[in-house]
Amino acid sequence: MSDESAEPAADPAGISRRGLLGLLGTGAAGLAVGGAAGAGIAIAAGAGRSEARSAATYPFHGAQQAGILTPVQDRLHFAAYDLPANATRDDFVGLLRDWTAAAAEMTQGRPIGEGAIGDLDRPPDDTGEALDLPASGLTITVGLGPSLFDHPEHGDRFGIRARQPALLRPLPRFAGDALDQARSGGDLCVQACADDPQVAVHAIRNLSRIAFGRAPLRWSQLGFGRTSSTSTSQVTARNLLGFKDGTANLKSEDPGTGAAVWVEAGDDPAADWLAGGSYLVARRIRMLVESWDRAQLGEQETIIGRDKGEGAPLSGGTEFTAPDFSEIAANGQPVIAADAHVRLAHPDHNGGAALLRRGYNYVDGNDALGRLDAGLFFIAFQRSPEQFITVQRALASDLLNEYIKHVGSGIWAVPPGIAEGGYLGETLFA
Ligand code: HEM
Repeated sequence: MSDESAEPAADPAGISRRGLLGLLGTGAAGLAVGGAAGAGIAIAAGAGRSEARSAATYPFHGAQQAGILTPVQDRLHFAAYDLPANATRDDFVGLLRDWTAAAAEMTQGRPIGEGAIGDLDRPPDDTGEALDLPASGLTITVGLGPSLFDHPEHGDRFGIRARQPALLRPLPRFAGDALDQARSGGDLCVQACADDPQVAVHAIRNLSRIAFGRAPLRWSQLGFGRTSSTSTSQVTARNLLGFKDGTANLKSEDPGTGAAVWVEAGDDPAADWLAGGSYLVARRIRMLVESWDRAQLGEQETIIGRDKGEGAPLSGGTEFTAPDFSEIAANGQPVIAADAHVRLAHPDHNGGAALLRRGYNYVDGNDALGRLDAGLFFIAFQRSPEQFITVQRALASDLLNEYIKHVGSGIWAVPPGIAEGGYLGETLFA
């Protein structure tokens, strides 16, 4: 039973970081609301959508890592790290242990170690910018890249090559790939999701600080709006093309989702340590939004295969009506075009391959031509990398390709969840 699909809980101590300050009377804008235990959970004045969920806290320990089936939070900070050539197995395990301790605190809305204030004679253990904020639904999900097991230059640094999952290999090249290696790959990845951007950034900043000198940051990506739903309780969000995204996503409540997402014992005899884990694929997909914004609405809908307002399939019905790919229009053409995105990506077109999508919108300023550097930071979790590879290959003829470009990429194995007293990735070293 996964802990992570559980309903979010209020802070177990009943007092969030912000609540604590509110109760101390230092949070001028905070309004303390009586919690179940009679303690305060503060909600900022003028609370909006994010603030309404700000008290959510997901368990850090459990059979699976949180941040996969967890209802997608509003904000993302994603980071990839490389261990140095001379790092030892002890260095690697030491880092994972230190990250575990810090993540266990931060996800519960608590500062790291002795906190951000205290001893004036040394740098604080916690950088402090989340001190007055609640947990905000923070989840921290860690993945292990293929280069940890078999690095092109450093080989088998950690003595784990024999345990490399057979399918944990760099992704094949796909049609149209324009990947920037400086924004791709990495020995380790961390996905920090929260309903408050500062909480997500605080998590990555502090994990990077803990990794200083041990695993330098290779690249990182901020995401400011979810583009999917992973629970039927969530309203479908929109991507930067203006379309609802996540309608046909796997949802935690669907009976088949676990079998599509979690690695089972026996899937890979060399990698039983990964049972209860998953594979994370990330793709930084630039959208050519200026061109898209000049495309007629009819063309936009033909490309996606759904209408823009309601998100319903062009074959009819409402948002959650199943698309009818066999329907033919009066002109003899399929109503949902042969190369429409949803037709090519649909499991029926891919031997049943389904993905748990968990991506985010991003805008990273603009390029030298004055075009927004905007797009989708696509994240998908799956039981086998073959699921992503199958769907991405099918998308080679996607009508959408005229308006998008894949510019970053990575794949990581996500170890199972962490037992109390254990550490991230422990089963790999057992
Ligand atoms: C910028 C790039 C992309 C955009 C704008 C985009 C947008 C959309 C939209 C609007 C939908 C329909 C709503 C929904 O069911 O979620 C959709 C569906 C879907 N997309 Fe994408 N997508 C992109 C890239 C990808 C990639 C790279 C993959 C996987 C390799 C993918 C896989 C899927 C799948 C599996 C569905 C559901 C299809 C179905 O079962 O009906 N998408 N996407």
